[in-house]
Amino acid sequence: MKLELLLVLVALLCVDGLPLSSTGTRNRNKLLLISFDGFRWNYDQDVHTPNMDQLVQEGVKAKYITPPMITMTSPSHFTTITGRWIEDHGVVHNMMFNSTTLLKLTHKNTLRRSEWWDNGALPLWITAQNQGLKTASYFYPGGGVNYSGQAVNRFLVQREGHPSDNVTEWWEKIDTVMGWFTKENFDFVTLYYSEPDNVGHRVGPETEERKKMVQQIDHLIGYLRESIQKNNLSDNLNVIITSDHGMTTIKKNPQVKEIRLSDYISFLKLTHFDILDYGGFGMIRPRNGKLQEVYDQLKNAHPNLTVYKKEEIPENFHIAKNGRIQDLVLVGDLGFNLNSRVIFYVNKGDHGFNNQEMDMKTIFRAFGPDFRKNFLAEPFDSVSIYPLMCKLLGVDPAPHNGSLSDTQAMLLDHTDPGKT
Ligand SMILES: *[C@@H]1O[C@H](CO)[C@@H](O)[C@H](O)[C@H]1NC(C)=O
Ligand SMILES: *[C@@H]1O[C@H](CO)[C@@H](O)[C@H](O)[C@H]1NC(C)=O
Ligand SMILES: *[C@@H]1O[C@H](CO)[C@@H](O)[C@H](O)[C@H]1NC(C)=O
Ligand SMILES: *[C@@H]1O[C@H](CO)[C@@H](O)[C@H](O)[C@H]1NC(C)=O
Ligand SMILES: *[C@@H]1O[C@H](CO)[C@@H](O)[C@H](O)[C@H]1NC(C)=O
Ligand SMILES: *[C@@H]1O[C@H](CO)[C@@H](O)[C@H](O)[C@H]1NC(C)=O
Ligand SMILES: [Zn+2]
Repeated sequence: MKLELLLVLVALLCVDGLPLSSTGTRNRNKLLLISFDGFRWNYDQDVHTPNMDQLVQEGVKAKYITPPMITMTSPSHFTTITGRWIEDHGVVHNMMFNSTTLLKLTHKNTLRRSEWWDNGALPLWITAQNQGLKTASYFYPGGGVNYSGQAVNRFLVQREGHPSDNVTEWWEKIDTVMGWFTKENFDFVTLYYSEPDNVGHRVGPETEERKKMVQQIDHLIGYLRESIQKNNLSDNLNVIITSDHGMTTIKKNPQVKEIRLSDYISFLKLTHFDILDYGGFGMIRPRNGKLQEVYDQLKNAHPNLTVYKKEEIPENFHIAKNGRIQDLVLVGDLGFNLNSRVIFYVNKGDHGFNNQEMDMKTIFRAFGPDFRKNFLAEPFDSVSIYPLMCKLLGVDPAPHNGSLSDTQAMLLDHTDPGKT
């Protein structure tokens, strides 16, 4: 237990001198976006969550929301913060990879690599900063890099090996963010927690440990509500609580026949690059001239495996247009992980499966001065969180794929900071 355990890479890029547009003239409220990784839409339904229940009274709850296809942390978080489909924003996987050079970097190692994130779609931090707002990111994926050379005003990046379940630190993060709003006048902050994803992977979603984690998160949300009051932010801070995807129990032998692709193809002879062993979604780049052969061999290999050539990818996945998508895309049926050569995958729970599966759906809650109270919203696509955030902040949105009509019924009529 070394210092490094509690250290986070703190990159400070304070731009305190930025002119804040029209403070006082435009009645814009602040916005906090909180994401709890892997919080499945119904995790609050089998455990006592008094604080989340209270939020339903005090604000808005969507029945659930649908993340983009490629139900993984980085792709989904980046859709939320850009309002763009994955084929547009280009963050197609948690890992950074290059199928020519065979480079692969783990998720944590992508967090300071601008070339993985900066593909032309501007995240809201940057768009808001360009319109005079002050923004920050606490561990939110994509917050630690430059976009067209521009960094987020303040960012903290989560480091490899950083513990995900240190509840003391969870609370401190709230204190830090409150300070950013009250003492430093930040307008927009994104805050990320890597639970309950980790516990869902480790022991599976249908477990006491996962329920206990959800109760701890509920406790944290209670602390958040108290902190907002204590800091006199109740009247000028809106809060959105959401997540990136759900979680499902992985089906194992002998209950089912697990998918092991080397039973059907020779990786050595037929493939140049693959990105597999990462939940329910994978990609393969065959060797030159071997595309049809690999496709034919995998096509009817296992009843719970679907293989798409790029041109066959369903349009509603919104991934096919991107050059980082490889020649063959593989999707497992719910609960069937895509193993390549050996089944070393020890996770009890996982994601990456089709975003239409209920187990991949996730949560949406919101409260604050601009939201209605006790309002139950119909399900919507997470891509529509972006125009809602722009509306709340009075920011002119960049081009996006969301729709304000999905969310505007949540807002009180007087929410009109002058922009649509
Ligand atoms: C992969 O790396 C090669 C060689 O460095 C580079 O030319 C190519 O643009 C990279 N491909 C992608 C998709 O980044
Ligand atoms: C962002 O740009 C700054 C200034 O040019 C540079 O110092 C920093 O290393 C860049 N950050 C990343 C993640 O590339
Ligand atoms: C948890 O976080 C607190 C506050 O940052 C720190 O003092 C403590 O050492 C951490 N505990 C572990 C086990 O890392
Ligand atoms: C909140 O407002 C109350 C009453 O105006 C004041 O006494 C208190 O110091 C304020 N707290 C903070 C943290 O600004
Ligand atoms: C796996 O495939 C079988 C055979 O097609 C099917 O009956 C079953 O529903 C599939 N499992 C899932 C989780 O889709
Ligand atoms: C998503 O939005 C971008 C920017 O407006 C647009 O170019 C693209 O065609 C949209 N995608 C879809 C599927 O409508
Ligand atoms: Zn995960």
